Amino acid sequence: MVHINPKSSTREQWGDKLGFIMATAGAAVGLGNIWRFPYICGENGGGAFILAYLVCIALISGPILIAEIIIGRASGQGSGSAFISLSPKGESKLWRTVGVVGVLISFLLVSYYSIVAGWTLEYLWQALQGNLEMFSGDKSQSFFDEFMNSNPRQIFWHIFLTVMTAVILLGGINKGIEKLSKILMPVLLILLFSLAVFGVTVEWGALENPTSLLDLKSIQFLFVPDWSKFTMDSAFQALGQAAFSLSIAVGTLIAYGSYLDRKENIVNLGSMVIAMDTMVALFAGVLIFPIVFASGLNPSHGTGLIFVTLPNLFAQMPNGDILVILFYLLIFFAALTSMISLLEPGITHLIDEMSSTRPKACMYVAIASSILGVVWILVGSLQQEFLFFNIDKVVSNFLIPLEALAISIFVSWVLDKAVSKDQLSDVGMKFYNVWYFMTKWLCPIAILIILVKGLISQDMGG
Ligand code: PHE
Repeated sequence: MVHINPKSSTREQWGDKLGFIMATAGAAVGLGNIWRFPYICGENGGGAFILAYLVCIALISGPILIAEIIIGRASGQGSGSAFISLSPKGESKLWRTVGVVGVLISFLLVSYYSIVAGWTLEYLWQALQGNLEMFSGDKSQSFFDEFMNSNPRQIFWHIFLTVMTAVILLGGINKGIEKLSKILMPVLLILLFSLAVFGVTVEWGALENPTSLLDLKSIQFLFVPDWSKFTMDSAFQALGQAAFSLSIAVGTLIAYGSYLDRKENIVNLGSMVIAMDTMVALFAGVLIFPIVFASGLNPSHGTGLIFVTLPNLFAQMPNGDILVILFYLLIFFAALTSMISLLEPGITHLIDEMSSTRPKACMYVAIASSILGVVWILVGSLQQEFLFFNIDKVVSNFLIPLEALAISIFVSWVLDKAVSKDQLSDVGMKFYNVWYFMTKWLCPIAILIILVKGLISQDMGG
């Protein structure tokens, strides 16, 4: 039997395909593209990492992104109940757990994602006040350290951002997510493009190494592979990044798919989202590396790259005061649309499962996420490295791959083939068979290897 949208007649839907594309691209484009991608790329052989990343997108994350939209649209439900309504009787308990775990991951993820997003607001705030001096020279590192040690400031931005996101979500799918994404995403693309063009063409008279731009060393670094820096671990990081960046396995895509009209072509829309996400990551590299190279620095500067290295460089540039504002505005917009997509699975869950009203669901999720984030900040202040090296490791290296594994197994081994065929009926059998093969064999095997390898290296203290 083919199950199609049992609740679709009463369920809100995206106004048009552009709304879905912008909202989903908004989910995908985030701190992962602008903060994480450039430095992981810098540490793992530039172009070599990009190649591995593209392969992971095409063979693993992309097919799973499509699988999740199928699950969402076919069931017309958020992650918490989508799996049960599509699974054969008897297996429901297990699949219910899988669905709920997806929602829980989004909740866990947003509770610390908003902390980093809050850092960008602090920087934007300083930039708007013209406090560029604070970022120059050694002051840049001490400003960052001092901010990291200031619990009240971090807590303020975290709660401010969480509440702001919940208020946007009060508007629902059309008037909240869709409307905002249709404005923010084009602005983000224009900002990124202009800054990237500026990054490769400007005369860096004030910087240490101004000629490097003319020979485009930085662009070469991005696109010419350096295999000597590419290790087995780089391949694992490429897969982790490909999963994180496309926002798979956290309930977001299932929830967004559940609001998608039956007549839309999932593969076309999904491909546009993937193309946009990849383009933004590459442009972020094109924007960031020339600046780093021109100042004679090393591009593999870890998490501090956009909070320590770049503000310092902006502080030394002509028109740096405007550039720094535009740069943090760009990151803030990217983070905000991702935060929206991370709070929505919990809200959809409360509405679908607990018959909650949207305003109440927004309030509960915002309060819970604010509290959890405050806990991370307080714990983090006792043990600096705690936040990213432990919670993010568990979420990105363990929970997301595990959930992605379950999704690929569900969509190919458990779900009635007639359902997925019906959902992808507009792309032809050839494509369908390739996608089906990937989710049935390639994705589970690749993810299993990653998981096992991750667990072994944990054991060995890696
Ligand atoms: N894809 C987002 C980023 O790159 C993060 C995210 C993950 C957002 C999962 C929503 C869901 O930053």
